[in-house]
Amino acid sequence: MVILRDMRESDVDDYVRWFTSETEWSEKWDAPWEGKIEGDPIKERRSWMEYFSSVKSLNDDMERWKFEIEANGRHIGWVSSYYDLDYSDNPDHIIAVGIDIPDIDARGKGFGTKALSLFLEYLKGKGHMSFFIQTWSKNVPMLKVIKKLGFKESVRKRGFLSVGGKKCDAITFLLRG
Ligand SMILES: CC(C)(COP(=O)(O)OP(=O)(O)OC[C@H]1O[C@@H](n2cnc3c(N)ncnc32)[C@H](O)[C@@H]1OP(=O)(O)O)[C@@H](O)C(=O)NCCC(=O)NCCS
Repeated sequence: MVILRDMRESDVDDYVRWFTSETEWSEKWDAPWEGKIEGDPIKERRSWMEYFSSVKSLNDDMERWKFEIEANGRHIGWVSSYYDLDYSDNPDHIIAVGIDIPDIDARGKGFGTKALSLFLEYLKGKGHMSFFIQTWSKNVPMLKVIKKLGFKESVRKRGFLSVGGKKCDAITFLLRG
């Protein structure tokens, strides 16, 4: 079972791991053009503890921009939302969503599709009608999730990104409400 929940202090250990030693999710999939994550464990712990302090007492009715993903009781990643699109303008101020499941053994089991679909439902409940999502042309698992959720390609910047010396497309998808 997949649920979205607020952050807990015990999640900090996972974030330290995901931003120091287990960084494949970013370097191979999320943003390989940004290079290696060189997180220092002490600095990461401090910064994630600060982040936790900033979100631990949010009012229940306050719209969340990020949730932790839990699958069968295990913290496996996060979903988040933002407005500053990476590869296109956003004049209509449409919310964009993103997701990361850093632990490799938690991927490919449907958890990502379920988590994003729960997040979209949550955001619809907060009044959002349309949604952007952005990825790149070689992130096949993400492209499959995007398709399963019904997003349609909106903007493709051909050859905009360089990964391992090869040009890849930056793609923005839109789910119109
Ligand atoms: C992208 C991501 C969130 C998807 O979550 P997930 O739980 O793995 O997704 P799902 O299991 O719901 O669906 C993934 C689909 O891709 C398929 N897939 C997984 N790895 C694949 C691969 N290497 N090649 C082709 N298909 C693959 C799965 O079989 C599944 O296909 P299906 O729909 O036919 O069953 C997750 O893989 C992840 O966090 N990856 C690393 C970080 C990342 O890329 N984040 C997104 C940045 S835009």
